Amino acid sequence: MSTYDLIVIGAGPGGYVCAIRAAQLGLKVACVEGRETLGGTCLNVGCIPSKALLHASHMLHETHENFEKMGLMGAKPKVDWGKMQGYKAETVGGNTKGIEFLFKKNKIDWLKGWASIEAPGKVKVGDTTHETKNIVIATGSEPASLKGVEVDNDAGIVVDSTGALSLPKIPKSMVVIGAGVIGLELGSAYARLGAEVTVVEFLDAITPGMDGEVQKQFQRILAKQGLKFVLGAAVSGVEVEKGKAEVKYKLRKDDSEHEIKAECVLVATGRRPYVAGLGLDKVGVALTDRGFVQIDDHWQTSVKGIYAIGDAVPGPMLAHKAEDEGMAVAEVIAGKHGHVNYDVIPGVIYTTPEVASVGLTEEAAKESGRKIKVGKFPFMGNARAKALFQAEGFVKMIADAETDRVLGCHIIGPNAGEMIHEVCVAMEFGASAQDIALTCHAHPTCSEAVREAALACGDGAIHA
Ligand code: FAD
Ligand code: NAI
Repeated sequence: MSTYDLIVIGAGPGGYVCAIRAAQLGLKVACVEGRETLGGTCLNVGCIPSKALLHASHMLHETHENFEKMGLMGAKPKVDWGKMQGYKAETVGGNTKGIEFLFKKNKIDWLKGWASIEAPGKVKVGDTTHETKNIVIATGSEPASLKGVEVDNDAGIVVDSTGALSLPKIPKSMVVIGAGVIGLELGSAYARLGAEVTVVEFLDAITPGMDGEVQKQFQRILAKQGLKFVLGAAVSGVEVEKGKAEVKYKLRKDDSEHEIKAECVLVATGRRPYVAGLGLDKVGVALTDRGFVQIDDHWQTSVKGIYAIGDAVPGPMLAHKAEDEGMAVAEVIAGKHGHVNYDVIPGVIYTTPEVASVGLTEEAAKESGRKIKVGKFPFMGNARAKALFQAEGFVKMIADAETDRVLGCHIIGPNAGEMIHEVCVAMEFGASAQDIALTCHAHPTCSEAVREAALACGDGAIHA
C-alpha cells in the first residue's frame, strides 16, 4: 500500500488526462481502472472504434459512389467484415497502449481492479485500501436502458452501442432507436456497409438540441444516403423471435401502433452516469435527481477532497469536455486555477458530411432575448467542397447584432469537425464576426466557407 496525493477512479479521457496533468504538476498519482485496457468508453467502445468503422465505411462508399465520377475505374471492393473488425481493434489497441506508455512516462501507478471509496482519503481496490489526499471520480457513463427492450450484445440482435461496434455480421436490416449522435453515426456506417437502416425517433426532429436548420438539412442528406426516418414515434418494446427482432412503436400524433422487423436493433436512447459500486451513499457524496455526481464550481463533490468529472457529472457527455475537466481539476488540486469555458465546447457528429457546432443555436440565441445577426454560406459556393462531392451543407454563423461578437457557429460539411476550431478560438478570444471575416483564409480550403459566413454577418459573402 502506498500513500498518494491523488487517486483517480476511472481511466477514460477524463480520468487519464487528470492523472497525467496531476503528475506533470508534481503530485504522486494513481489511477484505478477495472477494464483490461486504459482509455475508458472513448478509446475502447466509443469515439475511437466508432470512428474506425465510420472511416472504413466512408472509404467503401467513396469507391462505390464517387470513384467512377473521378475516372477511377475498376472492380469495386467488397467488405471483409473480419478484417474490418481487425483494423478497428488495431486502432483501439494502439491507442490504449499509448495511454499505458504515458502512465509509465509520468510515473502514474495503474491500480488494476474496481475501486470503492471507503471514506474520504481511502480507496479500496481488491483487498487493499490505499491512502490518498484527494480522490477524483471519473467513472463515466453506460448506455441507458429502455423499458420493454432487453439488450443482448452477445446475441447481436438487440444491441447497444458496444454491441453495435462488434456485430457478428453486417445485418441486412437495422432499426436504430434514437436519432441522437450514436444512432446516426453508427446507423450511417451500417447503411454504407449495405444495411437497410430505419431510425425511429421519439421527437419530431433528429439530433435534439441542434440548430433547427442544421437538423433539417442533416436529415435530408442522410435520407439521400438511404437512411429512413420515423419521427414522433415512441418505441414501446422489442420482441425477438427466430433470430429476428420486431420493434413496436406508437406514433405520437395519433397514437397509432406500428411495428418494423429487422435483423438487428440498435438501442441508442442516451447514456446515464455510472457510479455503481463506488459506495457514494456510504461516504455521503450527493447525486443530482438524474443520478449524476453533484459538484461545485471547482468539481468538488459534497464531500471535501472528493472531486468528480466527465460523463459522471452534469453537462455534455463528450470526451473533450471530460478531458478539459480532468486537466482543470488536476490544477485545482495542485493549488492552481483550473478553468473550463463551458460556453465554448464544440460538438461534432462524424458522419459524412460531418456536422459540427459550437455556442448558441439560432433558437437559443433568440430565446436569450439578444438581437442577433445570422450569416450563412452554402458549400455550393466553395470550390473545394464541390470537388469532394460534399457541397450540400452550409456554415451558419450567429453574431450579436450590436457588438458583432460571435455567439455560435454550425457547420454541415466536409471536415466540419476540424473547421469548427477556428470559431472556437475566435470565441475564446471574444472575437467579432468581422475579425474572422478579415482573417486571410487559404484557397482552396473548405474553411473559406467559415470566412464567407462571417462576411455574411457584415456586408455580404463574396461567392454567394
Ligand atoms: P469513460 O470514458 O466512460 O471512462 C470511465 C472509466 O472508468 C471506464 O473505463 C470504466 O471501466 C472505469 N470505471 C468505472 N467505475 C470504476 C470503478 N469503480 N473502479 C475502476 N474503474 C472504474 N465523445 C466525443 O467527444 N466524441 C466522440 O466521437 C464520441 N463518440 C462516442 C461513440 C460512442 C459509441 C460512445 C458510447 C460514446 C462516444 N463519445 C464520444 C462519448 C465519450 O466516450 C464519453 O463522453 C467519454 O468517454 C467520457 O469520458 P469519462 O472519462 O468521463 O468516462
Ligand atoms: P442522445 O441523447 O444523443 O440521443 C438519444 C435519442 O433517443 C434522442 O433523440 C431521444 O429523443 C431518443 N429517444 C429516447 N427514448 C426514445 C424512445 N423510447 N423511442 C424513440 N426515441 C427515443 O444519446 P445517444 O445517441 O445514445 O448518445 C449518448 C451520448 O454519447 C451523447 O450524449 C453524446 O454526447 C455521446 N456521443 C458523442 C458522440 C460524438 O461526439 N460524436 C458520438 C457518440 C456518442
